[in-house]
Amino acid sequence: MGGPTYTDYLELNTLLSLQTPRSPDSAERAVLLSEQFFIVAHQSCELWLKQIISDLEAAADTLGTRAGPEAVELGAEYLARAAELLVVLYHQLTALEKLPLRHFAAFRPYLGSASGADSAQFRQLDKLLGDERRAGRLYEAFTTALDRAELPAAELCRRGPGAGAYHRVAEALLDVANAYWRWKVGHLALMTRVLGSRPGTGGTSGAPYLASRITLPFPELREARGRLHLETGEPAHGETAQAARPPRPGEPGVPGEAEGPGETEVPGDPA
Ligand code: HEM
Repeated sequence: MGGPTYTDYLELNTLLSLQTPRSPDSAERAVLLSEQFFIVAHQSCELWLKQIISDLEAAADTLGTRAGPEAVELGAEYLARAAELLVVLYHQLTALEKLPLRHFAAFRPYLGSASGADSAQFRQLDKLLGDERRAGRLYEAFTTALDRAELPAAELCRRGPGAGAYHRVAEALLDVANAYWRWKVGHLALMTRVLGSRPGTGGTSGAPYLASRITLPFPELREARGRLHLETGEPAHGETAQAARPPRPGEPGVPGEAEGPGETEVPGDPA
């Protein structure tokens, strides 16, 4: 059978020629190997980021512009894959904790001003996800899909799995956001382990700068989920749980049947 070989298909000769340590050839072998490890870790992060961004863009396009149950289900699939890959990204980062400090100190001067802060793909990801101050394109697409289905976020949270694919989208969004947050926290921990309070190669203060950059996307969705506790009877300060929750069927104050969180069908819902 014809077709490309494994090496050709993956362009391995090009790919594997791209890890070039900047330390002089005269450097110790262990230092050169650690620098190669540092380069591979960053390059693989950028490769996975390419896939994560493509999946999140596709999810935003699908949820924002296409109606119907299949589109929502497809959006959930894209998001679930991106969330899984962000976990991969986190593990690639924590592998760098096995970078010996003395080797890092030896090759760091050769990095010049190269810094992850200049990663265009990370900036793109930041923008797509948004933060506590502004919603990104992904969240805007999600609210468009909810508006189209006439399903307010609060109702979605109330229905839970009863909201079918919309519920899966919301859960996957939170998986994406939390995995992203975990990466940022892990990155700060890694950085302080090998640099302490030294500034970054990109010219920032290092740890204080990175701490200020840790954000949790999708605050509206978190708020909507938090409000469910009030509806289901979380006691306010000074109240007992019995007094705070709505009365249940058979208890005084209930004229007819209780209106629990229903499993009602959502328009266009496949579940
Ligand atoms: C030993 C490993 C690492 C150290 C010591 C380190 C250190 C730092 C420091 C100090 C900064 C602040 C900016 C500056 O002044 O340079 C930074 C930013 C950044 N680094 Fe790393 N880093 C490491 C690994 C990685 C890896 C594997 C990636 C993945 C590509 C990465 C991606 C980033 C990104 C995206 C930023 C910008 C973060 C933001 O602005 O929120 N870093 N890094």
